[in-house]
Amino acid sequence: MVGIIGTGVIAEAHLKAYLALPDRCQVVALCDIFPEKAQGLKEKYGLDAAEVYGDYDEMLKRPDISLVSVCTPPFTHLPASTACMRAGKHVLVEKPMALSLAECDEMIAVQKETNTYLGVVCQNRFTRENQILKALIDSKTAGRVLFGQVESFWYRGHSYYDLWWRGTWEKEGGGCTINHGVHQIDLLNWIMGPPETVTAVLANAAHDNAETEDLSAAILTYKSGAVVTLAVNLVTHGQYQRLAFQCEKAGISSPYQVRSSRSTDTGFPVDDPETVAELEKVRESIPKLERESHEAQIERVISFMEKGEIHSEDSADGRVALEVITAIYQSGFTKSTVRLPLGKDSLLYDKNGINENGTLAAEIRRNLSDVKNKGSVLAEKESTSAGYIRLSYQR
Ligand SMILES: NC(=O)c1ccc[n+]([C@@H]2O[C@H](COP(=O)([O-])OP(=O)(O)OC[C@H]3O[C@@H](n4cnc5c(N)ncnc54)[C@H](O)[C@@H]3O)[C@@H](O)[C@H]2O)c1
Repeated sequence: MVGIIGTGVIAEAHLKAYLALPDRCQVVALCDIFPEKAQGLKEKYGLDAAEVYGDYDEMLKRPDISLVSVCTPPFTHLPASTACMRAGKHVLVEKPMALSLAECDEMIAVQKETNTYLGVVCQNRFTRENQILKALIDSKTAGRVLFGQVESFWYRGHSYYDLWWRGTWEKEGGGCTINHGVHQIDLLNWIMGPPETVTAVLANAAHDNAETEDLSAAILTYKSGAVVTLAVNLVTHGQYQRLAFQCEKAGISSPYQVRSSRSTDTGFPVDDPETVAELEKVRESIPKLERESHEAQIERVISFMEKGEIHSEDSADGRVALEVITAIYQSGFTKSTVRLPLGKDSLLYDKNGINENGTLAAEIRRNLSDVKNKGSVLAEKESTSAGYIRLSYQR
């Protein structure tokens, strides 16, 4: 039996995934601090047997619930997930895993202590395009990765940041890097492993109602010698996502594209159709997916539970994504290169690093363009039952 905490935008993706597995699970509880939102979801999907809760502690008293989807804003991921695990429930928490590495470590510690499953949503690993990319790189058919380009290019208008928790270091943990870039960063880590160093720039180009960045550009270096440029922003017309790797023998991208050049005697390139054909063969050997995205990830969790497996290593993936994000923030704030791994002694290990370090916070605000009056704007943010804020602030 399944419960969902937080019944806003992304909860529907979880709900649809559970509903696609009717013989294997049932959603019996929906919880939101605005219970009318949970009630609305219940009615929309005709979930007659589901109970609505306004407080997750009440919901977690139910012994029949074994899995909980945590679909609340990032600042609640730690308390909600740990409450679930302490109540003996397995957890699938939405990205980003938490606000800070300290919070991730606390969640992982509780997971170990309670011997429960803790997974972080990484639905883009479960798409055919990205599975093909990973399989092609893993096959080494194209040789070693020399250079990568990761693009997480979105378009979000000014009013996107009217939602009460978005655009704040305190509640969202950052801007587009942690919220949008996290997907491509997770894929990059999945394919390349963690980088050795990160050098980044942060900016706020077009959202002066957010105190966080809406643009980041980073250069990542790897032990193998590979270099990756990673760019995230919310100002791209016709938004798109791309990962591209230039390997020794071919360039491979998701969305799928393969190109291969080899050198002539003079060093100038000619096409290499043989390598392309070899890569095509690997591509064709990759099975089609029965399910994709949230549905596939949720099916995987249900399968573990059916087999009584815990797969405690899954929670580490959410932490590594946050580690790269934290390194991007630290590098952007301090204008220096940051070396991974990041542990307890790192500047932004816990959220005090961002929220309470006065000099750093001032520096962040100075670095981001035109965010004056931010403090008073954020103080006026107030949640309503629709989840949207009322702002007296005028652009
Ligand atoms: N995987 C994806 O592609 C994807 C897409 C969108 C959002 N997200 C993530 O999902 C999470 C939620 O985002 P959203 O867009 O659905 O936000 P949302 O604001 O639409 O929904 C969040 C809901 O949680 C409720 N809530 C807040 N605190 C709560 C608490 N303590 N107990 C119970 N309910 C509480 C809010 O009232 C709201 O209804 C975020 O972490 C976000 O980054 C993931």
